[in-house]
Amino acid sequence: MLVLIDNANIYEIERLYSMYPYDGVTTNPSILMNERKNPIKVLQSIRDFLPKSSQLHAQVVSESTEQMIEEAHFMLREIDEQLFIKVPVTAQGMRAIHLLKQEGINITATAIYTAMQAFMAAKAGARYTAPYVNRLDNMGADGVQVAMDIHTMFRANNMEADVLAASFKNSQQILNLCKHGIGAVTASPDVLDALIHHDATFTAEENFTQDFYSLVSEVTGLHFKEKESRKIN
Ligand code: E4P
Repeated sequence: MLVLIDNANIYEIERLYSMYPYDGVTTNPSILMNERKNPIKVLQSIRDFLPKSSQLHAQVVSESTEQMIEEAHFMLREIDEQLFIKVPVTAQGMRAIHLLKQEGINITATAIYTAMQAFMAAKAGARYTAPYVNRLDNMGADGVQVAMDIHTMFRANNMEADVLAASFKNSQQILNLCKHGIGAVTASPDVLDALIHHDATFTAEENFTQDFYSLVSEVTGLHFKEKESRKIN
């Protein structure tokens, strides 16, 4: 399961990549709006920073098929020809997915709220489909189940598409999808931090360190304060 960062802040992306080898970055127009900068320049600097093997996904904002395609071409020219173009699964979007696929362009179908929308988008040519897990949960539906259903449909129909589940508010939602073997998830930095951090791990590491320096004191007769002792590492 690929794990991507759903954010456009270069400092956050650099911070996360310094700790863990993530698989890429996804953005949407609202995420880009948070940066208050030229969105193309923001996407270019993210692309420049990312390793070549990492994916970058960016969304079109036009409503008509023709304009979506024009916008996709512009982004591919300005940012990267391997960019994943996110296209919302409106009727116009479905047609854009079909036409962009014929050009060999990487497509992520987005704003997915039903399993059938994902199925139709994949049939039209989307490589990834992005169901909005937490937004579905907030509507009284089961977002994790929708994402798992999509994955099952793709495998049952031998389709070359994967779920890129999006919109998470907690790590439990991601755990459930990981157990089901879905293709990819994208989550905000706070949710990604929560996938790794556990207070008990921190405490265990502190205790091991304390024990080790107690042993060093015992056998050498030297006494280290915790902070001083850490300096010798
Ligand atoms: C991804 O395609 C979506 O743009 C994004 O993950 C939505 O997340 P949100 O529901 O937290 O806004």
